[in-house]
Amino acid sequence: MGLIQELGIRVPVVQGGMGGGLSGHELAGAVSAAGGLGTIGILPVRELRLEIDAARAKTDGPVAVNLLLPFARRAHFAAAEQADVIVTFWGKPRREVRGTWIHQCGSPAEARAAREAGADAVIAQGVEAGGHVRGTTPALELLERVREELPDDYPVLSAGGIADADDVAGRMGAGAEAVVCGTRFLLSEESGAHPLYKARLLAARETILTELFGLGWPAPHRVVANAATERWLRRDRRGPSWLRALHRASAPLLSHAPMEGQLRLAAMQRPGRPLFGPAAPTAGGPESLLEAGPLYAGVCVARIADVRPAAELVHELASGLAS
Ligand SMILES: Cc1cc2nc3c(=O)[nH]c(=O)nc-3n(C[C@H](O)[C@H](O)[C@H](O)COP(=O)(O)O)c2cc1C
Repeated sequence: MGLIQELGIRVPVVQGGMGGGLSGHELAGAVSAAGGLGTIGILPVRELRLEIDAARAKTDGPVAVNLLLPFARRAHFAAAEQADVIVTFWGKPRREVRGTWIHQCGSPAEARAAREAGADAVIAQGVEAGGHVRGTTPALELLERVREELPDDYPVLSAGGIADADDVAGRMGAGAEAVVCGTRFLLSEESGAHPLYKARLLAARETILTELFGLGWPAPHRVVANAATERWLRRDRRGPSWLRALHRASAPLLSHAPMEGQLRLAAMQRPGRPLFGPAAPTAGGPESLLEAGPLYAGVCVARIADVRPAAELVHELASGLAS
């Protein structure tokens, strides 16, 4: 029996964790209740605990928590132990929890390191992914290369560019244990994205791989255009070199600041003020982030035309697979 079945996941569709309130209990609970694996994104520890409890109230199925290694502290890992699966991202893979641990990787070398560190599975993230982008290779090619790198029975999940049933069937046919979708679930009724952020994504045809919103976290991320990108990315899509240097310098300090403070700082962002952190616009958060914050989305946003209930998405994504 594979890892997915062992965990009691009936449909091999995983909703990627999206931090800062984009994927909370409503989305994660709905995906897990529909038979997939829902994932709560990173939050301040107290909120994370509440979100896990609230997701449990919505489903008997397994629930995952996603932790970003630059920001996760010991208390985050302790809280995340209450979930069935912990997914980590961005940094040297290391086992911090006793339970099932999956690490999202961008290369075969990173996947091998995660397995050697004791990860139960890896997610191979292709360069077309939304949010922070570890991969530099298209997802299908990366999946094949990671599969070659690791033993046949080791579970490899595939992320990046998955928006419909054909995409899912393609990845499963190439040896994925399951698929991981971010952008498709961001455009669900239950995601915490601000309604106007969702509207921007529905209209978007192009994405930008940039480093503009890297204050405290200097890492490439994929977004759609807004006033901040129009103003600062004219010469270099990564952002001005002095701004990227500021991001690198700020990272050791800011990534250790309490997450609550980082979210408060985000409210002060303006398109003309080059202090751009990674918080995205959420339903309850400051509307100013629509023009001054990152509108994360993957390349597949161009193929998504509707906001749908998450359960419907789980069933539709898996509709091309033999049951
Ligand atoms: C809005 C958004 C936020 C994201 N936040 C996180 C995160 O907090 N942690 C993480 O591991 N991955 C994050 N990701 C990346 C996903 O885990 C996944 O790799 C990606 O969404 C797959 O590509 P897709 O967007 O084309 O489906 C995010 C993706 C998006 C779209």
